[in-house]
Parts: sequence; C-alpha cells; structure tokens
Amino acid sequence: MDTKMARNRAELSGKLTNVLDSRTLANSHQRLAEILTEGMAILDVGCGTGAITRGIAEVVGPNGRVVGIDSNPKLIEKAREAHSETPGLFFETGDIYNLPYEQQFDIVTSSRVLIWLSDPLKALKMMTSAVKIGGRILVVDYNHEKISWEPQPPSSMLHFYSAYLKWRSEAGMDNSIADNLFEMFQKVGMKDITITPQHEITTRAYPNFQNRMGIWADTAPSRGIQMEKDGFITEKAYLKAEKEYREWMVQDAQSLTMYMLAVEGVRCL
Ligand SMILES: C[S@@+](CC[C@H](N)C(=O)[O-])C[C@H]1O[C@@H](n2cnc3c(N)ncnc32)[C@H](O)[C@@H]1O
Repeated sequence: MDTKMARNRAELSGKLTNVLDSRTLANSHQRLAEILTEGMAILDVGCGTGAITRGIAEVVGPNGRVVGIDSNPKLIEKAREAHSETPGLFFETGDIYNLPYEQQFDIVTSSRVLIWLSDPLKALKMMTSAVKIGGRILVVDYNHEKISWEPQPPSSMLHFYSAYLKWRSEAGMDNSIADNLFEMFQKVGMKDITITPQHEITTRAYPNFQNRMGIWADTAPSRGIQMEKDGFITEKAYLKAEKEYREWMVQDAQSLTMYMLAVEGVRCL
C-alpha cells in the first residue's frame, strides 16, 4: 500500500475548501442527521473545515461532545477560526490511521474521506476501536465510476475526469469504494449493517445549481496542478476542461448525479 503517495495526492488545495465550506449536516450528511440525538458523543474523522461537524455539535448540544479530526493542520486551523464558539465542539489535527481513542464515542463517522485512502480497511478498524460497544460507525462515500451528467459534458472534461480516476487509482485509492463498504464493514465485525443511498443530485431546480455543478470546474485546475506534476494530464488540457465545462454549465447542463452511499453498522464486541 503506497500510503505516502495517497497522502500527497489527497492533500487539498485552498480552492477546494469552498466546496467543503458550503456543506451542512442537513444537505451533505443526511443519514447522520437522522440518527443524532441530544447528548451524544461523536467523532467526525476527516472533518475538513468543520462545516458539517459544527452542524453535528448544534444537534447534540452542550451536553454532548463532538470531536472533528483532520490530518491537514491548515484545515483544522480554518475549522477552529470558523466554529470555535460552538459549545462542546473540539477540533484536533490527527490521522485516521492512528486515532488515540478507545470506546469513547456513540457514533464515529467519516464523510468523503475513505475514498482518499490507500488502506481504507485499516482506517475502518481504527474507527471501530474508537466507538463504544453498541455504538455505530457511519461512513458516507462515493462511487466515482458511477457519476452521471445530463447531457454529457464536453469531451475535454471527460478526458480530465478519466485521467483523474487513473491518477487516484495509481495511488491505491478505490474509486468505487461506496459499493465495497458493506463487505469492509463485515470484515471489521460490524453487525446490523445497513445501506442508505444518498446520491448527490443537482438539477437546474436547485438555487445553487451553478455552484454544485461547478465542483468539477473547480477540481480541474486545483487537482490538475497535482496531476500535471505526476504526468497524468497537461496544463493545457486541464485548463481547457475547466473553461469548456464552465461554458457548458451555463448553456447546456441539466443535471449531475454523484453516486453516494451511507453505510452504517453496530459494534458488538
Ligand atoms: C473531501 S474532504 C471531506 C471533508 C468533510 N468530511 C466533508 O464531507 O465535506 C476529505 C478530508 O479527509 C482528510 N483526510 C485525508 N486523509 C486523511 C487521514 N489519513 N487522516 C485524517 N484525515 C484525512 C482531508 O484532509 C480532507 O479534509
């Protein structure tokens, strides 16, 4: 497992934090929102800039405890700046492969994180150690192979997207992880495993349609820089993908569906 390569590639550039900042518990972690109750202790691993984590703390309230962990200290700094006044909410720099918790949380969750790892099973084992007996693990992640746009975006973007998936797989990341989570949960001994589809569907009916469609216009130049260094695409090609996709978003785009599942299970031992 080349975790070092995956780590380097997972590193988020500044521009993409716009996407993280715009997420909320209600719009981006729906299954968790359904099962949270007041007073719970929650660990959110790979919390990014903490937008969803803050929503979790607001639901569990001051009698609960919410810890957001991320390996990127810059994101933890941003999270603290933006959300430190929320009672019961703490942010720590830390690694999912090395969580310092044993049986402390009612729910341990990660959203859109395992897809960036070269050893997601090891990460899931660590998450399992951190949850109380009878507590729950809840993972939300994509299958990037099952994305769909209506109509098809420009071929320059399809070329970028295909290079992006190859660049990720070369680092050992599983582009289809959503559909492999059930089996991984079985391997770490989780019981009562359930799957809730949580596909991210964006259509012109959404008020922030351009923003949500724009995730790939933002990804092309930000990940493009890394992909060019690694020999997966040229600068000309990723800039073309961004430009043509932005024009397509305004004129032609109707919808984008990002396939995502929420998978949860209960720790029994
Ligand atoms: C796509 S972001 C998701 C952020 C947030 N959970 C959300 O759903 O918006 C993935 C996050 O995982 C973090 N991450 C990647 N590898 C990690 C690791 N080994 N340990 C902890 N966090 C990690 C990244 O720094 C990044 O903030």
